[in-house]
Amino acid sequence: MRKLKEKKLVLATHNQGKVRELADLLARFDIQVVGAEKLGIDEPEETGETFKENAKLKALHSARAASLPALADDSGLVVPALDGQPGIYSARWAGPEKNFTLAMKKVEEELLAKTGDTSGNLAHFVCALSLAWPDGTTMEFEGKIHGILNFPPRGNKGFGYDPIFIPKDHDITFGEMDATAKHKISHRAKAFNQLIRNAF
Ligand code: IMP
Repeated sequence: MRKLKEKKLVLATHNQGKVRELADLLARFDIQVVGAEKLGIDEPEETGETFKENAKLKALHSARAASLPALADDSGLVVPALDGQPGIYSARWAGPEKNFTLAMKKVEEELLAKTGDTSGNLAHFVCALSLAWPDGTTMEFEGKIHGILNFPPRGNKGFGYDPIFIPKDHDITFGEMDATAKHKISHRAKAFNQLIRNAF
């Protein structure tokens, strides 16, 4: 495993929720982080078939464009009763307007049509992180958190599908949870801890 020696890292995402969470997780390290959008780097098309493949192509794209190491996150909500959807299409379910009220409604409607039940269905979040260098070296890590879905959505903290996800052994949604509490248990934190153990 390669160690990150550089003191500057590009966060290869335009998603401000992810930039915020990754910057928070990296705050205790002596490393300067900069978002890809600030550097004028576009987002590549996500042509991968897995979270890891998509994280890797995004990290490589930014690392090469910036000539700096880059960290990318590909993540999403997996609902087994919907055959794993929205999965790697989680962002795309929100449409070009990135409307997650609409995306959460779609999950609710699809569940109703398929199972006749909405709240209580099992779900998990997955986060794949890829750390890439401009020379093409990459490392990928994956974290998961299991829980159940809850409708109607609750809470306005967090982002994306947080208001409909209750993590296992909790009774509030990620949307109702403080960032520090979410960071202790989230899929992103689990992937991040592996990254730290291996690359820092
Ligand atoms: P992508 O990785 O850019 O394809 O987008 C993943 C999408 O999954 C995000 O836009 C969110 O909607 C959703 N997602 C990923 N992680 C989280 C999370 O921690 N909370 C809520 N939604 C998430």
